[in-house]
Amino acid sequence: MKKKLLWGTAVLLVALLALFGRDMLGFYHLVTYIDSTTQAYEADGPWPQTADACYGCHGMRGSSQHQRYPSLAGQPADYLKAQLHGFANGTRHFPNMQPLAISLGDAEIDKLANYYARQTPMDNHTFQPDPGLRQQGEKLVKAGACAACHGEKLMGQGAFPRLAGQGADYLLVQLDAFAQGSRVDPTGSMKAVTQTLSAQDRKALAHYLAALAATPK
Ligand code: HEC
Ligand code: HEC
Repeated sequence: MKKKLLWGTAVLLVALLALFGRDMLGFYHLVTYIDSTTQAYEADGPWPQTADACYGCHGMRGSSQHQRYPSLAGQPADYLKAQLHGFANGTRHFPNMQPLAISLGDAEIDKLANYYARQTPMDNHTFQPDPGLRQQGEKLVKAGACAACHGEKLMGQGAFPRLAGQGADYLLVQLDAFAQGSRVDPTGSMKAVTQTLSAQDRKALAHYLAALAATPK
């Protein structure tokens, strides 16, 4: 009698596992996934974090998936700080960024800049460069000695931003803005750089730069 009961329980267990095993395993994976992502999130402080306000436009951990919104991941902290102060004090203009930057204190700006500088940038997978423009852009980058300031492989350093793998539309808007004088950098370097570039050159540069690997190989 006892043996029969044991067999019955075993058969029932096997049947239950066969029916629901997949779901149970799925649920187990979901729980461990939530656990590990929560831990990763909380490593940067409790919820909510200031960086949550940036996520919608600048992407998860500062890797934007949109060509018009710049990626912040892996940008030099000094550069990010300077830009946030620039938006706050009105030396750099952008309607979405200005009120946000004004609301941040110096300590928060430092924290955000250091946070994004620590993140690993992602390659710009969604952009398809035009082959002709890309070739023209490569020549212009060599002729313009962009790497002398923007660093080896254009990965950025100190006050000079990373250009490699940045959003194509964003890059073009910035090059146009420097050329037209609506964005002014403190040293005037980018004004000088863009003075000799035509509209077609600026487009070629944006295509070339956006397609470069954003992570050093
Ligand atoms: C509503 C969308 C939006 C939100 C939210 C937003 N940004 Fe931006 N941000 C932009 C856009 C668009 C630009 C590009 C502006 C331009 O074209 O000059 C930008 C530019 C920047 C830049 C300059 C990037 C560079 O390469 O020069 C920094 C730094 C920045 N944002 C930080 C932040 C931080 C930090 C937050 C959150 C506290 C934030 N942004 C929230 C849209 C947004
Ligand atoms: C003499 C140094 C210097 C050289 C050479 C130089 N740049 Fe820059 N560039 C800068 C500085 C400084 C900034 C940041 C300006 C600021 O703080 O607003 C900048 C910013 C930029 C930006 C805006 C990036 C962003 O995230 O907003 C682009 C695009 C850019 N440079 C492209 C180029 C290209 C393309 C070349 C070569 C043709 C080049 N630069 C050569 C100094 C230089």
